[in-house]
Amino acid sequence: MLYNRVLVTGANGLLGQALVRRLSRFPEYDVLATARDDSPRFEDASCGYAPLDVTDGEAVHRTFQDFTPNVVVNCAAVSSVTDCADDRERCWTVNAAAVETLAHECRQVGARLVHLSTDFVFDGEDGPYDESARPDPVNYYGRSKLAGENAVRASGLGSWAIVRTVLVYGTGRDLSRSNLVLWVTESLRRGETIQVVDDQYRTPTYVLDLATGIERLIHFEKDGVYHLSGREFVSVYDIAQTVADVYGLDDSLIEPVPSNHFEDAIERPLRTGFIILKGETELGYSPRSLREGLRALGREIDVLPTTG
Ligand SMILES: NC(=O)c1ccc[n+]([C@@H]2O[C@H](COP(=O)([O-])OP(=O)(O)OC[C@H]3O[C@@H](n4cnc5c(N)ncnc54)[C@H](OP(=O)(O)O)[C@@H]3O)[C@@H](O)[C@H]2O)c1
Repeated sequence: MLYNRVLVTGANGLLGQALVRRLSRFPEYDVLATARDDSPRFEDASCGYAPLDVTDGEAVHRTFQDFTPNVVVNCAAVSSVTDCADDRERCWTVNAAAVETLAHECRQVGARLVHLSTDFVFDGEDGPYDESARPDPVNYYGRSKLAGENAVRASGLGSWAIVRTVLVYGTGRDLSRSNLVLWVTESLRRGETIQVVDDQYRTPTYVLDLATGIERLIHFEKDGVYHLSGREFVSVYDIAQTVADVYGLDDSLIEPVPSNHFEDAIERPLRTGFIILKGETELGYSPRSLREGLRALGREIDVLPTTG
């Protein structure tokens, strides 16, 4: 059997944890999970773990030389739009500059780079988008992620993939960030009223489906850009309503508001979301529906209503 030595960065994040868990199930992968923390936040003894800050060029070099990966999946990012606006320097260092470093080290050891990117590289004027659409980000997070993509394209790497995704929901151990579905669920369970935008449209993505898609992409050794998200094009308000419905929570607590309701809000693209035909055709990518994804997550976090 041909082993893939896969190095995962940002492995303590939402996607990183799911991906490490997914890859660890297959004997064809020898996985080294890396993240900034001294130890992994997830429980999975079947992979290696090493602390790694992707902005530390020396440490990245040492880790690549020691492990000699043949695939690197870059899940490390400053993934919060607000954090990127508040600390532009850190955002750029992680989302753009560090990608150059990773691509350079991939060239040195002859590894493929699979880099994670976002629907926020688009302006949201005419989504859903396929892989041929022209990026034109409207905020700093989007600009930094597009710069990361460009670093991959310009790196001279023989083999690379950019996987863009959209509004990822799911759970993990000690996550440093929440996500829309967890936030809606927790707020409604506490009986809190929440305001949710009804003019932003996405194709929400269950993290386990995304992890499966990335595993397929590694398995089939595919290069180029792939849009991997859910299939349904829905407003953020619709997502919140569906969460309430599937988990049996009070949907009257969800108040629809337009994006401009929040005066100091950072601009976000209105209609993004993806056409995923390429991934479906070439990778056999087959994400769950939103309701199925929510039910699967509901079993993980134990919020499904009991039926009489
Ligand atoms: N979540 C979404 O809705 C979404 C949508 C579209 C695209 N994406 C993209 O998908 C990818 C994965 O995102 P995610 O949802 O898993 O986000 P996440 O949960 O925030 O994970 C990102 C991880 O990167 C880590 N990180 C930050 N700076 C680092 C550094 N200098 N060195 C090493 N690790 C570092 C973070 O660690 P700390 O926790 O210690 O900060 C965090 O664990 C990202 O490229 C993101 O842009 C996500």
